[in-house]
Amino acid sequence: MTIERNARLREVQSWGDLFRFTIEAPAMGQEARPGQFVMVKVSDGAFPLLRRPLGIHDANAGGIELFFKVAGQGTGILSQKKSGDRLDIIGPLGKGFTISAATKGKKVYLVGGGRGIAPLYFLARELVKAGTRPFVLYGGRCRTDIPLRDRFEKSGIEFLCSTDDGSFGFAGLVTELAAIELAKAKPAMIYACGPDPMMKALASLAAKHDVPAEFSLESIMGCGIGACWGCVHRIRNGKGNGWVKICEEGPVFPGERILWP
Ligand SMILES: Cc1cc2nc3c(=O)[nH]c(=O)nc-3n(C[C@H](O)[C@H](O)[C@H](O)COP(=O)(O)OP(=O)(O)OC[C@H]3O[C@@H](n4cnc5c(N)ncnc54)[C@H](O)[C@@H]3O)c2cc1C
Ligand code: FES
Repeated sequence: MTIERNARLREVQSWGDLFRFTIEAPAMGQEARPGQFVMVKVSDGAFPLLRRPLGIHDANAGGIELFFKVAGQGTGILSQKKSGDRLDIIGPLGKGFTISAATKGKKVYLVGGGRGIAPLYFLARELVKAGTRPFVLYGGRCRTDIPLRDRFEKSGIEFLCSTDDGSFGFAGLVTELAAIELAKAKPAMIYACGPDPMMKALASLAAKHDVPAEFSLESIMGCGIGACWGCVHRIRNGKGNGWVKICEEGPVFPGERILWP
């Protein structure tokens, strides 16, 4: 884990209320694994006091990228930052997705809903490096909600889009698209990130098709480093059910351990 109090925001790209930040943070970029997150101080002042958790959208030797949607005041303040501004970030934090030798040469599905696509681009790139074949199912409410499709296209990563209103790609929920694709071919693994109802539906699809799955959970986080107990979630463990801190033990968990709300 690194604390970058003065990381330079190199590039800002935006699509309505969705933003992509490229941040110079070499140590963080080299350490980051897909599914991990950072805690960002969104303002130089006292408000808001708490940092905001954001998944690592991509990482390399030069730094990290974030992809976020404006959800409230904190992300609203963050979205005002300009290229050249400085950011105070802590990370990488948490435990990310499993990239296993067992899926080498095999196809795996990555299912992202809305801003939940954020960590899946980095994951897809790392899977390709590991010799696994990622197939991304990218869903949003409408075509403007899925701006990263160009990025997947340019990277040569196989993907399909869905929109709830039918304005681009498959017309319907991304879980409906996943059900169709699962009926055609069984992947070696499913990775997902998105709203809870989407992931819950996907967890039952994965169980029905007997495919192992990992899900990135969200929670409101006070500290991101295991100190405040603000992020607890009930999880199955060997002895029964228990509360775990998502920031420390997650945010990624295997499907069979998650007790969906
Ligand atoms: C591990 C992790 C990774 C995340 N990665 C991303 C990412 O890559 N991109 C992205 O856009 N967002 C991501 N989020 C969600 C993001 O942290 C919240 O949207 C953000 O903290 C909201 O802050 P705010 O001050 O703008 O909104 P607030 O004013 O604090 O809240 C606005 C609304 O959003 C809800 N909210 C706040 N925090 C969360 C949360 N963590 N999960 C769900 N609802 C929340 C509040 O209940 C409220 O209804 C992630 C969350 C976690 C826990
Ligand atoms: S966010 Fe503080 S313990 Fe997890």
